[in-house]
Amino acid sequence: MSVRAKVIVVGNEKGGAGKSTVCTHVAVALLYEGARVGVVDLDLRQQSTGHFFANRRAWTQAQGAELPQPTLLEVEDEANLMLALGATVDFLVVDTPGADTPLSRMAHQAADLVVTPMNDSFVDFDMLGVVDPTSLTVIKPSLYAEAVWEAKKRAAVVRRESVDWVVLRNRLASSEPRNRKRVDERIATLAKRVGFRPVAGLRDRVIYRELFPFGLTVTDLSPQVRPVPVSFAHLSARQELRTLLQDMDLVSTPLES
Ligand SMILES: Nc1ncnc2c1ncn2[C@@H]1O[C@H](COP(=O)(O)OP(=O)(O)O)[C@@H](O)[C@H]1O
Ligand SMILES: [Mg+2]
Repeated sequence: MSVRAKVIVVGNEKGGAGKSTVCTHVAVALLYEGARVGVVDLDLRQQSTGHFFANRRAWTQAQGAELPQPTLLEVEDEANLMLALGATVDFLVVDTPGADTPLSRMAHQAADLVVTPMNDSFVDFDMLGVVDPTSLTVIKPSLYAEAVWEAKKRAAVVRRESVDWVVLRNRLASSEPRNRKRVDERIATLAKRVGFRPVAGLRDRVIYRELFPFGLTVTDLSPQVRPVPVSFAHLSARQELRTLLQDMDLVSTPLES
């Protein structure tokens, strides 16, 4: 009997929050765990994730390198998405557009894990919750939070399964501790109210974007795979990603050094 893939949907309704970055990095990290990984890019306009994995194949071929590759599943309509959800893989990682589309909704309702990256600011907090402009207290969940809540309810009724929802902060900068603390407090309040788990996120690092043209992530770097000079910061980035995977309950053991 085949077991259904664990469906990881990376979403929020804001562009530029880091969905495609998280999607590609998580997918590659899972490949290095030895998992069979399927990837779906529902952002048909930008196709960042689709382009990333196309770059990966092209680079691998050009270099004659051996790198683990996911199964790319092209999805343009609901029938395709149904098929993709039944793919024989261990994990299906789904990237979504920064807008509410029928396919994105359908993916959210099929998710076992929803991962929402957000930038470290009140501007991005807006897509999770509405904040009172004077007191800065959380007034109510936003439309996206409501949509995930709906998806969770449906999963409970239709599939009798619970959906884990993780929110991570992306592009954390070492400055701005005061803003960070305030955003942290609001996130903790909202997390209780709408049922997500806040987890540690990713710092703003060049390595998370400079390998895109090669279709590589920091996890791929090795003495043989080294299209950019390797620096000490890359070790921190790998550790940070590893922690993210642990926080999402996708791996258990700490990284061996
Ligand atoms: N942690 C990070 N460090 C550095 N650059 C990042 C980071 N996360 C995202 N970026 C960059 O920010 C931009 C938007 O990220 P992206 O993943 O495409 O967001 P989304 O898919 O939500 O629109 C891209 O140029 C990406 O390379
Ligand atoms: Mg994207």
